[in-house]
Amino acid sequence: MTGTRVSPPDAASRDEPAVSTTDAEGLLLRLTAQLDGGTSGRGAQVLSLLTRRIADYRATPVVTFKVRVAGKVRNIGLKLEGVSPWRSVKGRTAISLVASVTPRIGDGARLVESTSGNLGVAMAELASDLGLPFTAVVDDKLPAAMRRRLRGAGAEVVVADGDGDDGLARRLETVRRICSADPAAIWTDQYENPFNPLVHELWTGPEILAQAPDAQALFIGVSTGGTLGGVSRAVRALRPGLKVVGVDVEGSRALGGRAGPRILTGIGAGRPARHLDGAAYDASEVVSSWSGARQCREWRGLTGLGLGGSSGAVLAAALRHLAAHPKLTRVLCLCPDLAENYADTIYDDDWAREQGLVAGAASPALR
Ligand SMILES: Cc1ncc(COP(=O)(O)O)c(C=O)c1O
Repeated sequence: MTGTRVSPPDAASRDEPAVSTTDAEGLLLRLTAQLDGGTSGRGAQVLSLLTRRIADYRATPVVTFKVRVAGKVRNIGLKLEGVSPWRSVKGRTAISLVASVTPRIGDGARLVESTSGNLGVAMAELASDLGLPFTAVVDDKLPAAMRRRLRGAGAEVVVADGDGDDGLARRLETVRRICSADPAAIWTDQYENPFNPLVHELWTGPEILAQAPDAQALFIGVSTGGTLGGVSRAVRALRPGLKVVGVDVEGSRALGGRAGPRILTGIGAGRPARHLDGAAYDASEVVSSWSGARQCREWRGLTGLGLGGSSGAVLAAALRHLAAHPKLTRVLCLCPDLAENYADTIYDDDWAREQGLVAGAASPALR
């Protein structure tokens, strides 16, 4: 790696423009234009609070590194979604999902969502701001740090345990049980709700294009496919020449692979992503979740920047893609969160040893 200067994310974000209140109102109007039915009373109050939460946002920072890959220096921009009010890309998704159910929010309403962590944290903090109870349905893979954050934000945490590897199927069954027992429960359904990709089409995508005017390729990880599906719709409409690369991990079925063991939360899924069609990406890269975790540890050692697990996978995928594509010199990786959620897993030496991650050796692409 050459000529690298790592700006602390907080310092970098100070130069980024805030989203003005007018933009916040405009974004909310474009979102709510897709609603079936009008919003009044409690739902209308929620919408006006959502406008304020959007106005709190600043564009998340892009930190650019020069990395020598296959003998050639490349510029890799990392867009740090962890530098945002709820500290992950899922803050934007949470705002949109809540906006989508405002016509149904009345007195006594309770929000329910199945989550691998970040969406739950954002929903919990947002619901607490809005004065709405929230139930997060999680599985036993949820990192302890995220469970603490969920409880700290006042969420009810329901663990969908049971046999078998498919935590998602168990979580969805639990959500359905909760909703059929309580008519006031509202499931925001990140897996099927079109407001998931919509917010990334209207907000995250245009923000990326403004910050990376000369990027040649964009790397985005997949779980529900909301981020990739939405951002790619913006790219297709506004800059069709930009290459979009979807990233998944081995053992995930999100991009059509075969189910198997994996160690990262946030990226991958036990079933194909419903928010994607064949046109959503130009290429895909599937890396092992172990290599994603190892990439996180190596990157922090090399640069001081601690990325979240899915970001490590996205970076590993980008490095591999760059090695095979010498003409690509400027790329951007969307990094959904930072190291804080993974202190007990990826960044814990005992955990890393148990997983067989070898510490200290730089990957060939970084030499
Ligand atoms: C850390 C992390 N990375 C990536 C993703 C994938 O995002 P999407 O569900 O939009 O595909 C998520 C989603 O929860 C996440 O928490």
